[in-house]
Amino acid sequence: MQRTLINQTPQLIGKQVKLNGWIDSIRDHGKITFLDLRDRSGIIQAVGQNLPKLNIEDVIEITGLIKARPEKLINPKLKTGSIEIETEKVTIISKSQELPIPINTDGYEIDEIHRNKFRYLDLRRPRMAQNLRLRSQVTQFIRNFLADKDFTEIETPILTKTTPEGARDFIVPSRLQPGNFYALPQSPQQYKQLLMVAGIEKYFQFAKCFRDEDPRADRAYGEFTQLDIEMSFVTQEDILQLTEELFTQLVKKVFPNKKIKQTPWPRLSHKEAIEKYGSDKPDLRKNKNDKNELAFAWITNFPLFTEQKESDFFHGSGKAKFAPSHHMFTAPHPDDVKLLDQDPTKVRGLQHDLALNGLEIGGGSIRIHDPKIQEKVFDLIGFTNKQKQEFEHMLTAFKYGVPPHGGIAPGLDRFLMAILGEPSVREVMAFPTSSSGQTAVLNAPSKPSKAQLKELHLLRNLNSQNT
Ligand code: AMO
Repeated sequence: MQRTLINQTPQLIGKQVKLNGWIDSIRDHGKITFLDLRDRSGIIQAVGQNLPKLNIEDVIEITGLIKARPEKLINPKLKTGSIEIETEKVTIISKSQELPIPINTDGYEIDEIHRNKFRYLDLRRPRMAQNLRLRSQVTQFIRNFLADKDFTEIETPILTKTTPEGARDFIVPSRLQPGNFYALPQSPQQYKQLLMVAGIEKYFQFAKCFRDEDPRADRAYGEFTQLDIEMSFVTQEDILQLTEELFTQLVKKVFPNKKIKQTPWPRLSHKEAIEKYGSDKPDLRKNKNDKNELAFAWITNFPLFTEQKESDFFHGSGKAKFAPSHHMFTAPHPDDVKLLDQDPTKVRGLQHDLALNGLEIGGGSIRIHDPKIQEKVFDLIGFTNKQKQEFEHMLTAFKYGVPPHGGIAPGLDRFLMAILGEPSVREVMAFPTSSSGQTAVLNAPSKPSKAQLKELHLLRNLNSQNT
């Protein structure tokens, strides 16, 4: 007999079926036992007599008859509440010990270390399973939406060179080139611009980004995912319109209960946002307790540079007066180019940030495509010749016919956190790193073996080391 999914059972009254799943709960009434069986599609009540000894979370197979419940025993809270399965045979496929964490609560009360150590159990709780399913529906929708608009999905390398977005890099030693290291990308920024030079014109990718920065509720430690988008021959308006259409249709399709507060989305200049709301990602919801209200807002007209007292700009020479507000590839407003020489603080950047319910859920810009302006920006942010050389490939690429281009990168995790009203990005990730930098379940970082270190040229003489 073929397996039937639990959500199909209400249509199968009077039929013999085979179900597989986990035991969600057991109510033992002596000779007669009631249990709830759970699979990915739902939960069903099973009734049986003289069943073998069963534990919660055992994986079992039940064969039996689907029956309508008597009127007074119908459970309106359950999708299968009007039926039950009369068990003829129960086979235990795999037994479960007592769980180390409860999974029949929403889980917020359990400490992160335990949830992460047993993440495969944590993900059994309905809230987490639902978050993962919605995440998948979101990425499916976006893929189809962008494919219909003639975008090409392209993967870019993970072993690469630094692409600074203002955080520390993760670096990986090279075995083939002793003493040299790869950096994991903080974003695919340079590659997506190079794809525009390559003539792709419309690119997207669900890109893993790696940043070594202190975690916060809305900031994952280590890695997170961006919906990375880049387009050629577009204005900032085109990017804003596309993003707005994408998210509006996405909300309609995947989150039909949510209401977008204002369309078209309000647009605030950076100055206005700071002056009026004291934030560059203002929360414009009317009622912050209403979990179905979505207040998207664009923030534009950022200054191209922020002034620094003592440079803490990671890649600067240490004496730079200016750091890029967004990143060093963001174009100045065309009317302000002459100000780059006169008063860089007055230059507006063609940057756009997207806020949702008080979180920054995306950022992007029109890019510089003139190598002379790019070099000027490098100078203003205090790049030495050596540092400039690290980005020489961009200046070189721009000498071979580069289309004007720009894009945006909404953070997938942060968008989901905002729309699901979750308190942290970790609630929408399958295997998040903990706030102390520990990976879920697999317990990294960990010590490599001496042999690995030696192979990577990080340990010179095995015999002379005692660790
Ligand atoms: P930016 O650095 O602004 O831009 O990042 C874009 C979006 O990525 C999300 N994000 C994060 N989400 C979770 N955890 C983090 N640690 C984290 N850091 C960033 C945010 C943010 O708005 N290359 C540019 C984009 C571009 O110019 O097109 C970039 O990465 O939602």
